[in-house]
Amino acid sequence: DASDVEKGTYDHYMLKEIHEQPGVMRNIIQNYQDEEGNLKIDKAIIDDVAQADRIYIVACGTSYHAGLVGKEFIEKWAEVPTEVHVASEFVYNMPILSKKPLFIFISQSGETADSRAVLVEAKRLGHKALTITNVPGSTLSREADHTLILHAGPEIAVASTKAYTAQIAVLAILSQVVANAHNKNTGVDIIPELAKVTTAITAIVDDAPKMEQIAKDFLETTRNAFFIGRTMDYYVGLEGALKLKEISYIQAEGFAGGELKHGTIALIEEGTPIVALATQEKVNLSIRGNVKEVVARGANPCIISMEGLEHDHDTYVIPHVHEMLSPLVSVVTLQLISYYAALHRGCDVDKPRNLAKSVTVE
Ligand code: AGP
Repeated sequence: DASDVEKGTYDHYMLKEIHEQPGVMRNIIQNYQDEEGNLKIDKAIIDDVAQADRIYIVACGTSYHAGLVGKEFIEKWAEVPTEVHVASEFVYNMPILSKKPLFIFISQSGETADSRAVLVEAKRLGHKALTITNVPGSTLSREADHTLILHAGPEIAVASTKAYTAQIAVLAILSQVVANAHNKNTGVDIIPELAKVTTAITAIVDDAPKMEQIAKDFLETTRNAFFIGRTMDYYVGLEGALKLKEISYIQAEGFAGGELKHGTIALIEEGTPIVALATQEKVNLSIRGNVKEVVARGANPCIISMEGLEHDHDTYVIPHVHEMLSPLVSVVTLQLISYYAALHRGCDVDKPRNLAKSVTVE
């Protein structure tokens, strides 16, 4: 509850929560390791993930965006086929389920009504469910078979920030643990990789003034903004667009770089800001191509790239981390840019209009 949590020296809970992310990463690393430094997750959870023939991730909003990233970990590391669904759609339009499905609900609050409706149905059908939440004892936690806790500490701002990165980190650990249980070598040593991520996030929050400048340069007066990326970066773009629109009321859209030419490029005018994420080697040339296409039509490109994949006109280069984990780092730039864009427009950052922190009605 907001009354129990202090903002300290921060002007807003959102800014405080963005800055708390290195600490959250450290908490997660600590809580998901035993004394010997081995990854630690309940055996019953590992068995249920490992034995599932398909995983259905169900969530809303930012938690859904974390699920999209999580799917990549589960498929590439744990090698279990995974689908990600928006809860409110899944309820009315359930796909044909596999023989042995496992449901994973991702919810910061653990109280989201749309997600709960799916959980109730999954249980009615006799399926197993795991909830990944920040709130122990929440409805989704109580009603599922298993829970993994985010250890992010209370998140007060309506715009979710540290819960998103915590969700991704926990999904990464879970996927690694399941891979280990199957003696699969993913080639990723997740704890040191998450430690690197922690350092990278620290560098970005320390660079907050630079993010404020980027917000000024690209978003001060604009009506709209586009976020593009491919693969992992596409998912982060979706989250960046949601963050920006919910707090700054700038109309924002995130989409896959390759989709530009299929319609959205028609909207590019002189000065339209395009935020391009470029952290993935195998799509780097393609995203470069997309940037060229929009620049040729007058767009104002804000390029967030990763060390080693620098572009000609980078706006910001994030420190190098494992490519699969780059969303944990690149998103922090977008969180801060959204924060400052909203702040400079005089918006109520922590309590944007028309929104509630947790949506407990359908
Ligand atoms: C995020 O910034 C949002 N305000 C919202 O999309 C949120 O992520 C969504 O309502 C899901 O909430 P939950 O994680 O508590 O289930």
